[in-house]
Amino acid sequence: MPINFHNVENRFSYSNRQVDPEWIKNILAIANPQGKQVLDIGCGGGLYTRVWAQLGASNVLGIDFSEVMIQTARDLSANIPNISFSVGDATLTGLDDKLADIIFERALIHHVSDISSCLNEAFRLLKTGGIYIVQDRTPDDIVPPASEEHIRGYFFEKFPHLLEFEHKRRPHLNKVKEELIKSGFSDIRTFSFWETRKIYPSMADLTTDLRERKGRSILHEINDIQLENLITYISSSIRSKETIIEKDRWTIWTALKSP
Ligand SMILES: C[S@@+](CC[C@H](N)C(=O)[O-])C[C@H]1O[C@@H](n2cnc3c(N)ncnc32)[C@H](O)[C@@H]1O
Repeated sequence: MPINFHNVENRFSYSNRQVDPEWIKNILAIANPQGKQVLDIGCGGGLYTRVWAQLGASNVLGIDFSEVMIQTARDLSANIPNISFSVGDATLTGLDDKLADIIFERALIHHVSDISSCLNEAFRLLKTGGIYIVQDRTPDDIVPPASEEHIRGYFFEKFPHLLEFEHKRRPHLNKVKEELIKSGFSDIRTFSFWETRKIYPSMADLTTDLRERKGRSILHEINDIQLENLITYISSSIRSKETIIEKDRWTIWTALKSP
């Protein structure tokens, strides 16, 4: 069953953590948001939208097709002047042509059945000379073995069918490159990096987070008993009983709308 982004129970799913400084370092190496118009499409609760605003964008517009997510994003961004949110579909936003200098889409494209429509829409919305930044996990990003940092690896060790599920839904590096070219983009570059998802002071905090993740993420695909078995498996596999730093490997594609 796919994740229901429109369920009010999932409203804080993508907002209750901190953005990793490593992510900021990587983004600033790609694009300078100072004075720029930024679109964050598939923005969820606006976690990254707010960081784009803090990094100096003149204006950031967060778009998501879930009214629930947009309401959360608005509530959490109420005092930030250079930020706004709007409900819209990534494949057909209804926004004007050529309004953004930078378009950012994190953890979105694996949810979109027709990637090409999503990329075509981004191309239309970008100003000439603008940059498109797509962040997602490819099949290669998923397979690193489980460790005290790569917690997600335990999900697949314990339940191999989850790995099959991930492989089916995750975008392949070269497929996205090909689609970017077809959409009209040029100078396509890619790199992968490890982004800290969350820091847990103790195993008990990780356990709480895993239970809260149940309604979203891939843990949606297992039942409550399986989740408890997974938690026991992770607790017995992780030796450190102190701070746990959970990281995921991601791929970033950058592409230009050349003159
Ligand atoms: C995994 S969350 C990522 C949220 C945020 N970008 C982040 O990285 O924290 C995916 C988001 O994409 C949104 N979404 C999925 N399909 C969409 C579509 N076709 N158009 C717009 N938003 C979409 C969901 O509602 C959800 O908020």
